[in-house]
This record gives sequence, structure tokens and C-alpha cells, in this order.
Amino acid sequence: MSALLAVRGVSKRFGGLQALSNVTFGVDHREIVGIIGPNGAGKTTLFNVITGVYAPDLGRVELRGMDVTGWAPHRICRLGAARTFQIGKPFAALSVLQTVRIGALNRIDSMAGATARALEVLELVGLAGKRDDLGRHLTVIERKRLELARALATGPALLLLDEVAAGLRPNEIQEMIALVRRIAAGGVSVLIIEHVLEAVMRLSARRGVPGRGLHACLKSRASRWRTATCACSTT
Ligand SMILES: Nc1ncnc2c1ncn2[C@@H]1O[C@H](COP(=O)(O)OP(=O)(O)OP(=O)(O)O)[C@@H](O)[C@H]1O
Ligand SMILES: [Mg+2]
Repeated sequence: MSALLAVRGVSKRFGGLQALSNVTFGVDHREIVGIIGPNGAGKTTLFNVITGVYAPDLGRVELRGMDVTGWAPHRICRLGAARTFQIGKPFAALSVLQTVRIGALNRIDSMAGATARALEVLELVGLAGKRDDLGRHLTVIERKRLELARALATGPALLLLDEVAAGLRPNEIQEMIALVRRIAAGGVSVLIIEHVLEAVMRLSARRGVPGRGLHACLKSRASRWRTATCACSTT
């Protein structure tokens, strides 16, 4: 099982709906793993379980070799997993810099240090010129970049991206893919949920087998880019 993230036999039910059923897969250090699946397949729920928003009904989540099942999200973030949200909700009244600095304060105690880290991340994601703009004034792609920057500023070993390319124009999708690759090149592992994964899949040497579930799809270790189908949902 992978060294960075290990999801073992995770199930999650909401009332009568089995959102996740016995999901097993892992992410290694310096790896990018894609998760695809139809609406309602349980992709975001999987992120919510990994990041501590929900505890699984069965199974466990290990991060950096520690069993983090049931941990609060801020503790999981502190250990090294940060995520973006499918529906970005920027702090409307905070500036871009203030927002990203909040992420940086996850690991850095001084305001000056957190500001410096936030500026570095803003440079990386191409938002440095917008540092003083308020969240509510950003365009769709700028909001996506801000979500990413806030997560990245927390200093994660694993970045979980929930549909960062959704709603973007084709050229913006290419920019986003390039950005994710730059981030990964810096040593951060990436777990990415994406409906607009066709472009990402072009980069993939291997594809998962649709309908076989995460476990079957993620067994291959032959390529750095892998895709999987999150076919875990049954009603
Ligand atoms: N908190 C919740 N309470 C009840 N049902 C939920 C909850 N969260 C998710 N669900 C249900 O679980 C199923 C999986 O939802 P989830 O958001 O994980 O799917 P998804 O694969 O991310 O879909 P999409 O591609 O539309 O984002 C859906 O049927 C959803 O309605
Ligand atoms: Mg979702």
C-alpha cells in the first residue's frame, strides 16, 4: 500500500444511500492520481472522508503512515493533506493575499513569514497581481486559483483537488493543467477529481478500467499519472 495516503475498505452511507462502498486505493509520494466518475458517484464524499469532514462507517484512512480515521479536518491538514472545494467560496470581504495567508498560518507562526509564503504561492498560481483584490471581485478561474493557492499555502504533502477545471474555458483548462504539473513538480502529490479529465487523461500513460472500482483501477504502478473510476455508488 502507498506510503503517503492509504484508503482501506472505506464505506460511507447517508441514510438509505450507499455513497462509498469498500473503497481501497493509495497515493504515493510525488504521484498524481486522477479520480473520475459520474455525478453522484461519491467522489467528493471520498474527499470528505479523507480530509475528516466525515468519518467513514467502515474502513480507515492512513496519512503518512498514521491512522487518521475520524480526525478533525484541521489536524489532517496539519499532518499534510489539504483540499480545494468543488464549489469555491472565497472570503468575499478578504483580499486574495489575506485569504492565502490564512492557509500559510497552518504551518507558519509569524504574520511576516505567512505573508512571505502567501506571496510565493500567489506567484506560483499566477495571482500575484491580484493580491489586493477582494474575493468577491474575482473571475471563475481566479477563484479556482485562489482555492488552490489557499490549500497549497498550508504546506501539504498531498493536495486534493475537487474539479478545479470545471467551468473553465479550454485555454484556461490547459493553464490549470500546467499549474497542477508545476505544483506536482515541486514535490506535492496530487489527488484530482475531474469531470474535465479528458485533457488530463491525454497525459496519462495508463487508464483505469471503468466500472471496476477504485481498487482494481489503482493497482497499476506503471505510470506517474493514473486514472481511476470511482464506481462505488449503489443506491
Ligand atoms: N451530507 C450528505 N447527506 C446526504 N447525502 C449526501 C451527502 N453528501 C453526499 N450525499 C449523496 O451522496 C452521493 C454522492 O455524492 P458526492 O457529492 O460524493 O458525489 P460526486 O461524485 O462528487 O458527484 P458530482 O460529480 O456531482 O460532484 C450523492 O447521491 C449525494 O447526494
Ligand atoms: Mg463532487
